[in-house]
Amino acid sequence: MSKPQPLLEVRDLKKHFHLGSGKTLKAVDGLNFAIERGETFGLVGESGCGKSTAGRTIIRLYEATGGEVLFNGENVHGLRGRKQQEFRRHMQMVFQDPYASLNPRMTVGNIIAEGIDIHGLYTGKQRKARVSELLQAVGLNEEHANRFPHEFSGGQRQRIGIARALAIEPQFIIADEPISALDVSVQAQVVNLFKKLQKERGLTYLFIAHDLAMVKHISDRIGVMYLGKLVEVTTAEELYANPLHPYTQSLLSAIPIPDPEVERTRERIILQGEIPSPLNPPSGCPFRTRCPMAMPECAAVMPEFKEVKPGHFTACHLY
Ligand SMILES: Nc1ncnc2c1ncn2[C@@H]1O[C@H](COP(=O)(O)OP(=O)(O)O)[C@@H](O)[C@H]1O
Ligand SMILES: [Mg+2]
Repeated sequence: MSKPQPLLEVRDLKKHFHLGSGKTLKAVDGLNFAIERGETFGLVGESGCGKSTAGRTIIRLYEATGGEVLFNGENVHGLRGRKQQEFRRHMQMVFQDPYASLNPRMTVGNIIAEGIDIHGLYTGKQRKARVSELLQAVGLNEEHANRFPHEFSGGQRQRIGIARALAIEPQFIIADEPISALDVSVQAQVVNLFKKLQKERGLTYLFIAHDLAMVKHISDRIGVMYLGKLVEVTTAEELYANPLHPYTQSLLSAIPIPDPEVERTRERIILQGEIPSPLNPPSGCPFRTRCPMAMPECAAVMPEFKEVKPGHFTACHLY
């Protein structure tokens, strides 16, 4: 039996920014991964490693420098005109900052209905009913439609951002650090809302976060990025139980363990130094300058991103 076609497939995706100085910043430099229908794929890595650029390039807010994005088997980066418009309906984005991403002069109802209006889906009573349904789906109520963003808390604003993304019934949502700006007490509620909506609507997510603790409870599979590249991809369970890449191991060792006895005695891997500038990345493996396991080979040759166990991919000379 052949495997079902993934909803999204990213092949050797690249986004390079050409800076005024004649330099090239390789923000995203050759990503390969696929996301199955109904799955949540967590994309993780330190600030500046290229997560947002990857998300924005996939949804085509940026033109890719190279590679392909297949949605339902079709290369969406080649689409123009009506077909592009059609694709836009199926993919939506939720942004990190719920303060900056909502227009302060628009009512919540008009913000949520923006996509409905652009795509001409509903008008009048139907539009109003749709907005009410969306507000309820995200845990708000229909009276909120006439209010303005500043009247809401951070968590509520993120709920509005989610309702806006859902309005045109997309199949796929890219959530770019949707809980990073929220109070810790509110983060779990918003994660639970994402899960509930996924179940109810059969959604597929690319869920971006800067640490592994945040994606643990929502991801089916996880990709770890470092300096524009994926260093490891596997199921969430396997990643937490058997992390292969030294970078993933260091990220996991930074997450506190609830058991105080284990927490007190366990070994932590503290990384030396800062992330190198993507304008001037190290030769060979980009992680080698901070890697506790670095070998001479690592400076000479970029390790290939390959499947080292069934479904478990990593780019490291140790394997
Ligand atoms: N529009 C842009 N022009 C030039 N450089 C950019 C642009 N957007 C992001 N970058 C650079 O690309 C790298 C990756 O950024 P970003 O994708 O925002 O990382 P992350 O979301 O993981 O924090 C960073 O070095 C950042 O400075
Ligand atoms: Mg970002």
